[in-house]
Amino acid sequence: MALELTGKVALITGAASGIGRETARLFARQGAHIVAADRNLAPTEEIAAEIRKTGRNALALQVEISDEAQVQAMVERAVREMGGIDILVAAAAVPFANYGEGKGNRWLLVEQPLEDWRRVMTINLDGTFLTDRHVARAMIDADKGGRIINIASGAAIVASVRGGAYSVSKAGVWMLTKTLALELARYNITANAIAPGFIETPMTEHIRGHEPTATAVLNTIPMRRFGKPYDIAATALFLASEEGAYYTGQLMHPNGGVLIP
Ligand SMILES: NC(=O)c1ccc[n+]([C@@H]2O[C@H](COP(=O)([O-])OP(=O)(O)OC[C@H]3O[C@@H](n4cnc5c(N)ncnc54)[C@H](O)[C@@H]3O)[C@@H](O)[C@H]2O)c1
Repeated sequence: MALELTGKVALITGAASGIGRETARLFARQGAHIVAADRNLAPTEEIAAEIRKTGRNALALQVEISDEAQVQAMVERAVREMGGIDILVAAAAVPFANYGEGKGNRWLLVEQPLEDWRRVMTINLDGTFLTDRHVARAMIDADKGGRIINIASGAAIVASVRGGAYSVSKAGVWMLTKTLALELARYNITANAIAPGFIETPMTEHIRGHEPTATAVLNTIPMRRFGKPYDIAATALFLASEEGAYYTGQLMHPNGGVLIP
């Protein structure tokens, strides 16, 4: 079977929702055992239970990715209970500081409080750095190679008004990915990033759920549709599979043509 992950263990952060959840489902269908991690435990347990019903192992873990002790504990449990980590998909991130708490401001940079800026950087950039490096250490110790896939964004390379902190954090994730690709190649660990366009997840609800914004954004997408979480999960699957073995340090653009760099 092409694009199969039989017997591999995949750790997926942000697995409670959207792209991370769909990636967990798709990887399990392709034969992987799943460690689903997220700061929201209840929906993470739901996806793990759904996967277990299909006959794969699945472990649900609560993690705040900006807290190094929690990230380390997540990796230790994954290694102890699942026997190692072959694949990481780091999808957990926030578009603005208080995302998920029912409030949040998209600031102009000249007005943004430092605390708010730092919160976005701490989760998106520090959190991805911590996740990547603890998983990479476990992969190096196991000496079986591995795949690191960071979910960046088109915002990593295109600026937007009131999206500065998110864009800068995702540009950081992209450079983090390139640096890891260089440093980890000798261990047969690849590191790649994905730059989704506008995808149908809670993160774009404020766009898709509001006219005339939804139509205005759709008109900027040459394929005239928002992406599905599956479009991103399928890109991650390619990078995680044997077929993607020779890719490292690359940024993939599943985006319907909205950004053609
Ligand atoms: N949806 C899009 O259009 C789009 C576009 C480009 C990039 N992305 C990126 O895709 C990834 C997945 O986003 P999504 O669209 O599925 O959004 P989502 O909100 O559906 O999922 C994000 C998940 O990350 C979790 N999370 C957030 N902060 C966390 C933290 N500090 N610790 C642990 N878990 C945390 C949330 O609880 C949530 O389950 C993100 O990195 C996002 O930046 C999304």
